[in-house]
Amino acid sequence: MGRETGNALATPIAGALGADIRGIDLSEPLSDDVWAALETAFLDHKVLAIRDQTLDPATFLAFSKRWGDVHFYPYMDGLPEEPEVFEILAKPDAQRIFGNRWHSDQMYDPNPVKVTLLYAKDLPTVGGDTLFSNLELAYEHLSDGMKTMLSGLKIYCDGADKSRYGGMSREQWYAKGGMAEKLNAPEQEPVIGIHPLIRTHPETGRKCLYIGDQVQRFDGMSAEDSKPLLDYLMKHIERPEFTCRVQWEPGTLVLWDNRCTCQYAIADYAGHTRRMHRVTIAGDAPV
Ligand code: SIN
Repeated sequence: MGRETGNALATPIAGALGADIRGIDLSEPLSDDVWAALETAFLDHKVLAIRDQTLDPATFLAFSKRWGDVHFYPYMDGLPEEPEVFEILAKPDAQRIFGNRWHSDQMYDPNPVKVTLLYAKDLPTVGGDTLFSNLELAYEHLSDGMKTMLSGLKIYCDGADKSRYGGMSREQWYAKGGMAEKLNAPEQEPVIGIHPLIRTHPETGRKCLYIGDQVQRFDGMSAEDSKPLLDYLMKHIERPEFTCRVQWEPGTLVLWDNRCTCQYAIADYAGHTRRMHRVTIAGDAPV
């Protein structure tokens, strides 16, 4: 039974965002009532950890597609049997961990991801949790003067920018995590996104501070001019009061709303393997 949510499915895991869901089986058809409760819980909690699932890639993909059309991820090849499902792999000797920065998925896309679904296949015995930040709370806690100052700004995100990866391309950087054989060169894909810094959620109408590590600068400003404010805002969204921490269990599937959250994959399991399946769902141009 959920706690103080009005939603029988969802049990909050933190004050800021995030909920656990138990007692449903995603490999079976969901009733309309359960599906409606899931959709409501998703908008209310932004991050849902659905526990105790046994999903092959086809079933995982079928559930994912209930949230919309699949968003093409330009930097990786999918699984041979289900090309729309990607494997996020950290081998024991990985030199970097995918997602180990505060980010919202594919901000560099003109139409960034709406929902990401991540399903645990192999987990380290301890570690490998994921942090999430509620960007609506982060916005609400800015002073009125700051909100006014930020209201006209746009963020400039370039997926091909090498400065953040020590001069390496994104593909070279991902390969250091042990995913070389999964990479794809995104020659034909747009990898520049210019979006409002204060973003309005298309379904709830709530405003958020849409920021993350993929932002290079503010549109119309140099990286140097942008840096002090970007650094301040990045620090702001990391405040523990805006966050939750998902501890993965075997069979956990987590889905999150990229239109109002950031996430951070914790790199604290060197010497162990972590393998996840991921599907991303297409979103609209932010407004
Ligand atoms: C991601 O940022 O998409 C991956 C998060 C994770 O692996 O926990």
